[in-house]
Amino acid sequence: MVAPAGTRAGLDKRPDQVAAMFDQVARRYDVTNAVLSAGRDRGWRRATAEALRLAPGQRVLDLAAGTATSSRAFAERGVDVAACDFSIGMLRAGQSRLASRPPRAGTVRLVAGDGLRLPFADASFDRVTISFGLRNVADVDACLAELLRVTRPGGRLVVCEFSQPTWRPFRRVYLGYLMRALPAVARAVSSSPDSYVYLAESIRAWPAQAELAERLRAAGWAGVGWRDLTGGIVALHHGDKPAPAGQPANGQAVAGQGAERQAVDGPAAAAS
Ligand SMILES: C[S@@+](CC[C@H](N)C(=O)[O-])C[C@H]1O[C@@H](n2cnc3c(N)ncnc32)[C@H](O)[C@@H]1O
Repeated sequence: MVAPAGTRAGLDKRPDQVAAMFDQVARRYDVTNAVLSAGRDRGWRRATAEALRLAPGQRVLDLAAGTATSSRAFAERGVDVAACDFSIGMLRAGQSRLASRPPRAGTVRLVAGDGLRLPFADASFDRVTISFGLRNVADVDACLAELLRVTRPGGRLVVCEFSQPTWRPFRRVYLGYLMRALPAVARAVSSSPDSYVYLAESIRAWPAQAELAERLRAAGWAGVGWRDLTGGIVALHHGDKPAPAGQPANGQAVAGQGAERQAVDGPAAAAS
């Protein structure tokens, strides 16, 4: 969920700076998240898996997968996950974790790739998802369009991202936490507390629920809606790729279609 470090990215989200920042926080990324979210991150990941409506055998793209924590949870539901990220440091941290604790079902394949130029063929996936990543990409609208391209008609997108608490008095308290307490807590648990200043700033600058929904629609997603989690600290947005007339909306993609072009560290599958 977090971001940068000594080389922390700015709100212009230059890809080289964003990737370098995540490389730097990779080792302690998951622990820091658990502390800063007071353990809530697990529930957010579970809700994301449910919103995806996964069924065994589906092909799933987890973009900006980081250390593949969510990817692993998706795989447990019997699906084959491409965990794609442009931070090699994050993917390596995920790779060692997957090697020591592989999913009991499904597969996770780690793929080095940029969300603005995905290394996948059109209509490769039944489900595409991005958790705490969309806020970090340099061009949100281009990324949403790229996700649409690689989704099969009738397939589904779920975006899990920080959002705006809906209850005004709580929103004020939360923004205070973000800007003051969070960097202080981060100093205690993270090796790169500067990253958490970026985290706070990027959350504050991020569009609220309705505006993000509008951007999904503008990118071509249909049936767009969202669900607030933890009072709106996080929102789960979903959308479906319109199916051409006469084609069932929930048909499966052809297995094996659209293979990844780049895998991390030679042997592609980190765990299966
Ligand atoms: C806050 S982390 C989220 C990681 C993971 N999804 C999770 O839920 O813990 C954001 C991730 O987005 C990745 N990222 C940002 N922009 C990206 C892009 N254009 N292409 C691929 N990955 C990107 C970063 O490298 C980082 O690993």
